[in-house]
Amino acid sequence: MDLKSHIDQSKLPQHIAIIMDGNGRWAKAHGHPRVFGHRNGVKSVREASEAAAEIGVKYLTLYAFSTENWGRPKFEVNALMTLLVKTLRNEIKTLMKNNIRLQAIGDIENLPGDCHKHLLEAIDKTKDNTRMTLVLALNYSAKWEIMRAVRHLAKAAKDGKIEPSQIQEDDFVNALSTQGIPDPELLIRTSGESRISNFLLWQIAYAELSFLDIFWPDFRKEHLYQAIIDFQNRERRFGKTSEQLQP
Ligand code: IPE
Ligand code: IPE
Ligand code: MG
Repeated sequence: MDLKSHIDQSKLPQHIAIIMDGNGRWAKAHGHPRVFGHRNGVKSVREASEAAAEIGVKYLTLYAFSTENWGRPKFEVNALMTLLVKTLRNEIKTLMKNNIRLQAIGDIENLPGDCHKHLLEAIDKTKDNTRMTLVLALNYSAKWEIMRAVRHLAKAAKDGKIEPSQIQEDDFVNALSTQGIPDPELLIRTSGESRISNFLLWQIAYAELSFLDIFWPDFRKEHLYQAIIDFQNRERRFGKTSEQLQP
């Protein structure tokens, strides 16, 4: 069955976010060290990006490294940073060819110097691409992002630029690192874990959640198609009753 043709173009999510999880367990299951799983996860990143762009999704956000991931063994953290630099350098050509713009959310200034530099280069080179925006969440955590927004608004209030009682939802949204990016309608997590792990807590308030029982290195285009089809079969009520939604 051709899954792709079952996707309803009129009900396409414009933003999909993915928690790419299970690299380590995938590697272990294949009798290899964890880093082997991270290396094999790069192909899945390519598959997800290409599939999303081909279907017409406008934003794809990938959770690549959390602030908590610094707590992993130094060897693994170093390997992940090296892989990030290598991938950024290798994939620029493909991003340009596919007309995909790269952006990043997270505390990217505190990434190792060469990662930060290559990331900014890739963001700059692809900035005029229009088909889809690929957002990498790097050194990201939702609590970090929310705390930063709170500090920003508190300072604006202290400086007399904003009246505390007048702070609106939009002021907060504009202080988040996802400023300008619509909230994801669909959040996918691979690896079988059913948790959010400090990802986009504010932005997923009404996202549909999809937990897949495969490890990230096994993720292929068909998994994205299937997740979109499942999403399209759900009723998104936003607090209303089912009857109210009938035309
Ligand atoms: C996801 O896979 C990649 C990162 C978090 C960087 P993991 O490395 O978390 O793999 P598991 O979940 O331990 O199998
Ligand atoms: C979430 O995966 C972070 C990323 C995918 C980058 P983790 O593997 O770090 O999450 P936990 O520790 O299982 O919650
Ligand atoms: Mg994990």
